[in-house]
Amino acid sequence: MNKIKKVVIPVAGKGTRFLPITKTISKTLLPIIDIPVIQYLLEEASNAGIKDALIIIGYNQNDVINYFNTESTYVKNLTKDYEEIKYIKKLKQQIRVSYVFQEEAKGLGDAIKHAKAFADDDDFAVILGDDFVFSNGLKTYGIGSLCKYYAKKPNYYLGVKEVLLSETSKYGIVKPEKEITNNFKINDIIEKPQDNPPSNMACVGRYILKNSIFHYLDEIKPGYGGELQLTDAIALALQKEDVYATCFDGVRYDVGSKIGYVEATISVARQREDLKEELSKFLEKLN
Ligand code: UTP
Repeated sequence: MNKIKKVVIPVAGKGTRFLPITKTISKTLLPIIDIPVIQYLLEEASNAGIKDALIIIGYNQNDVINYFNTESTYVKNLTKDYEEIKYIKKLKQQIRVSYVFQEEAKGLGDAIKHAKAFADDDDFAVILGDDFVFSNGLKTYGIGSLCKYYAKKPNYYLGVKEVLLSETSKYGIVKPEKEITNNFKINDIIEKPQDNPPSNMACVGRYILKNSIFHYLDEIKPGYGGELQLTDAIALALQKEDVYATCFDGVRYDVGSKIGYVEATISVARQREDLKEELSKFLEKLN
C-alpha cells in the first residue's frame, strides 16, 4: 500500500483579509472558540495517519512556534495538568512538527518550494492554513479522503468542493476530462477564472502532490497577482502526469474570510457538548 507520511502546512501568507488582527496574530492561530485553526489542521493530518508535519511560517510568526511549545514558562507555572495542554502534547507525539521560514510571501508556489528538503524523495500532502474542514464525527475526512485514493494509486490528487458559479473567480477551478464523480481525472486547472470557468469544482486547500512538483515549481514564472502559483505548477504536471480531483468528506469552511470564520465557529459550537444547549437557546432567542 502507498502511504502518505508527510504533510506541509503553509501559513506564511499576509492574511490581509483578516486585518487588523493579522497585524500581530497569525491567521492560522485564530481560534474556533478556543482551539486555533492550526491545531484542527494537525489533528486532521494525524487522523489521516500522517506522522510528520512541516509548517511554513513567515519571519513574524513566532506565535505559531510558541503555541506548540508545551515546555514554556506559562505551561511550567500552571498549578495543574490541564487536559487541553495534555492534548497538545499527545498530538505532538502522534505527529512530529517542524518549521521552515518563507522569507517573503511570494505565493503558495514559492511556499511549497521551501518544503523540498523536508519532502526529500517522498510524495506529500498539503493542507492550507486557512481552509478548515470540520470532521462532523467522521473518522476519514479532509486530507484523509485523498490519502485513501493515493493508497490505491499514487497520483496527484486535488481536494475539490462544488461552489456557486458566481464564486468560481475566487478559486483554482478544475476541468474534468469526462464526467464529474467522487474522484475524477482532470485535464486543466485555471487559477481564479474571471469568465468561462471550466466547471464549478474548486480546489479548496487539500492536495497530494507527487515529488515531481518541485521540478514544475522551478519552471513556472510569477502568475496571478504577481505570485508564484501552485496552480500553475500543477497545470504543467497535468500535461505529463495523471491528476485527479477528489471530493473529500467533511464540511469545509474558508476561515481566511470573515464570513467563513463566523460560519465555522457557529457550526463547531453547535456540535460541542459544553456549548450546544446554551447556544441553541440563544439562537432561538435571536429568531
Ligand atoms: P491565501 O492567499 O488564501 O492567504 O493563501 P493569505 O495571502 O494569507 O490571505 P489574504 O488573501 O492576504 O487574506 C493560502 C494559504 O497559503 C499560505 C497562506 O498562509 C494560506 O494558508 N501562503 C500564501 C503562504 O504560506 N505563503 C505565501 O506566500 C502565500
